[in-house]
Amino acid sequence: MTRRTEDRVALHYAQGDLERTILEALVASGKDPDRLTPEDLTPVDEFHTGGREATAAFAEQAGFAMGQHLLDIGCGIGGPSRFFARERGCRVTGIDLTEDYVRTAEALSRRVGLDAQVAYRQASAVALPFADAAFDGAYMIHVGMNVADKAALFAGVRRVVKQGGTFALFDIMKTGDGELSYPVPWATVSETSFVASPAEYRRGLEAAGFAIVGERNRRDFAARFFAEATARAAAAGGPPPLGTHLLMRENAAQKIANVVANLEKGLIAPIELICRTR
Ligand SMILES: C[S@@+](CC[C@H](N)C(=O)[O-])C[C@H]1O[C@@H](n2cnc3c(N)ncnc32)[C@H](O)[C@@H]1O
Repeated sequence: MTRRTEDRVALHYAQGDLERTILEALVASGKDPDRLTPEDLTPVDEFHTGGREATAAFAEQAGFAMGQHLLDIGCGIGGPSRFFARERGCRVTGIDLTEDYVRTAEALSRRVGLDAQVAYRQASAVALPFADAAFDGAYMIHVGMNVADKAALFAGVRRVVKQGGTFALFDIMKTGDGELSYPVPWATVSETSFVASPAEYRRGLEAAGFAIVGERNRRDFAARFFAEATARAAAAGGPPPLGTHLLMRENAAQKIANVVANLEKGLIAPIELICRTR
C-alpha cells in the first residue's frame, strides 16, 4: 500500500480533537468525565459491526488466555483493547494509522484507569514496529478493508506472534460480485477500500504461515444489529448523544445506510476468522 493511500485512509478517520467531542457527548448523556468507567465508553469506542456484543462474541471464538500480551492491529480509539484488558486480564498493545485515534485511545484509557494494561502507538499494519515473536497473540477488527497489501500484513503478524499463538480477525469481507455503494464507514470512495473475499483471506493467511481453525459469518447478527439501531434512532428522533456516529461524522447515516444496502445485496458480510501460527 502506498504512503499516499495510507494518508488518505488516515484522513478519512481523523478529525482533530476527538477526545473533547466524546467528553462533550458523555456530559450530554449525563456522565461525569472525571468518574468514567469503561462501560460508559462502549456506545462510542467499539467502531465495528455489532459493537461490544460483537467483541464479546469474537473474544469467545478467539479464546485468548488470561494474562496474554496481545497486539491489536488498527485499534481505533481502543474499545476492544480495553475489553481484552478488563475482561480477559490481557496486556494489549494497539497500533493505528490515525494519530488522532491513538491519542484518543491513550486519553480514554487513562480516564478509566486501564493505562497500565494497554499501550498505543501510531504505526501501519503493514510495517509493524515490533521484534519477532513479541506477542502471545494478535487480533484485528474491521481493519483489513483498508489494507491493500494483505500478504504484507499477514506476514508481519506471523513474524511478531509467537509459535502456537492465535491471530483472530473480524473483517467486512466480499461475499458477492458487484459495485459497493459509497461512502461506507471505512471509506468515502472505492480507492481506499480493499474488501477481499474469505477465500482470499484464507489463501493469504495460509501462505503467511497460519492454519485456519475457525470461521463464522456474522451476516444475520449484523442485519439484526443494524435493524435494531435504526429502529431505536427512529423512535428517539435521531441518534443518542454518544455513539459511533461521532466517529463517522456528518454523513454517518448515509454510511450506515450503504453498509446495510451492501449487506442486503449479499455483496459483503462481517466474517470472523481464527488462525494459529504453524
Ligand atoms: C473501522 S475502524 C476499527 C477500529 C477498531 N478496530 C474497533 O473495532 O473499534 C478501522 C481502524 O483501522 C485503522 N487502520 C486502517 N488502515 C490501517 C493500517 N494500514 N494500519 C493501521 N491501522 C489502520 C483506522 O485508522 C481505524 O482506526
